[in-house]
Amino acid sequence: GTPDSHVPRDPRLIRLTGTHPFNVEAPLTELFNEGFLTSPELFYVRNHGAVPHVRDEDVLDWEFTVEGMVRKPMKISVRQLLRDFDQVTYPVTLVCAGNRRKEQNMVRKSKGFSWGAAGLSTALFTGVPLKELIEHAVPLKGARYVCMEGADKLPNGSYGTSVKLNWVMDPNRGIMLAHKMNGEMLRPDHGKPIRVVIPGQIGGRSVKWLKRLIVTATPSDNWYHTYDNRILPTMVDPDEAAKNPAWWKDERYAIYDLSTNSAIASPAHDEIFDTQGVSKSYTVKGYAYSGGGRRITRVELSLDRGKSWKLANVGYAEDRYRAYENHELFGGRLDMSWRETCFCWCFWSLPIQISELLDAKDIVVRAMDESMNVQPRDMYWSVLGMMNNCWYRVLIHREE
Ligand code: MTE
Repeated sequence: GTPDSHVPRDPRLIRLTGTHPFNVEAPLTELFNEGFLTSPELFYVRNHGAVPHVRDEDVLDWEFTVEGMVRKPMKISVRQLLRDFDQVTYPVTLVCAGNRRKEQNMVRKSKGFSWGAAGLSTALFTGVPLKELIEHAVPLKGARYVCMEGADKLPNGSYGTSVKLNWVMDPNRGIMLAHKMNGEMLRPDHGKPIRVVIPGQIGGRSVKWLKRLIVTATPSDNWYHTYDNRILPTMVDPDEAAKNPAWWKDERYAIYDLSTNSAIASPAHDEIFDTQGVSKSYTVKGYAYSGGGRRITRVELSLDRGKSWKLANVGYAEDRYRAYENHELFGGRLDMSWRETCFCWCFWSLPIQISELLDAKDIVVRAMDESMNVQPRDMYWSVLGMMNNCWYRVLIHREE
């Protein structure tokens, strides 16, 4: 068996990197058909190494530190954290920066493995606002970053990264230390017993199996912070990136907020249209999301490769869960008080006559967010193959 033989896993998940480490996405149609919330069984997993083994009876005794540039450094257990701080619950979509990398690898091989368009999932996360804990430790003058480290032991140390301290201190960013997903204890693959959740940013910043929080004046010097989750300029190929480490040291190339993105769940890539049904209509549907809490403001479909566009209908996860505001759900107050802030994917749909679909070669989709960030027609290729967000395309296949 692998080092993860203690971890239960769903056979429907598609393995992207062999047997170990565990990196999986659900079939896109199954993921989409679950609705806004993903069940823990189908939630995508991105592990760099073996999953730390934590027994249920040891969850509350798990300890992590708050150290570095703080007046009151501390070691705190999950038990103390949950006893001393109020908890909140809200829905967050986590997205791997490699979502849709397969399309990039088809154009030119990047250094990453081929995610389809299901490298994302949504859960109601419950935990303590990280702001509260950091405030409690009292950051010192000159502190600018919060570094995070997990318990996983990897070839280049433990997995770690950092975010800006002023993001952590901004309540509208919703950064939390989560111990539950959809009302249950975190599953081992998702950070049991405790993880960071950074809404609106790439999943790579949401450190699992949290062991250390270090307040610093400079960004993390962890290997994974430097050599992962970056978009180097497009002319930097794998050779150049290996020859010249200076490319990796430029913090401007680190990625944080998600980019505006969307994908088509129906029709699936291999779906075949029945020519008998030409007089009927077919509902084209899929998802869209953006970064930094920005709301998706439109989703458009084209049947003629961008010459003309149709406006799709959009439904927001936030609108659904707003109805439960202030209810005691899952042991934490469901807090939707940021109103227009969107930390979740939205679903779009549009009925189209099958005859019209059959006249087209393909369907493309693009989304736009409240800052007018719109998905580009052309792909931006980079050496790690990240944040691919060009128009998503599905070919139309007709029954022969
Ligand atoms: N945290 C630790 N400790 N180790 C990891 O390998 N992977 C990161 C992040 N946090 C990782 C981690 C990456 S790249 C992503 S996309 C998310 O976790 C994935 O979270 P999930 O597996 O719960 O979906």
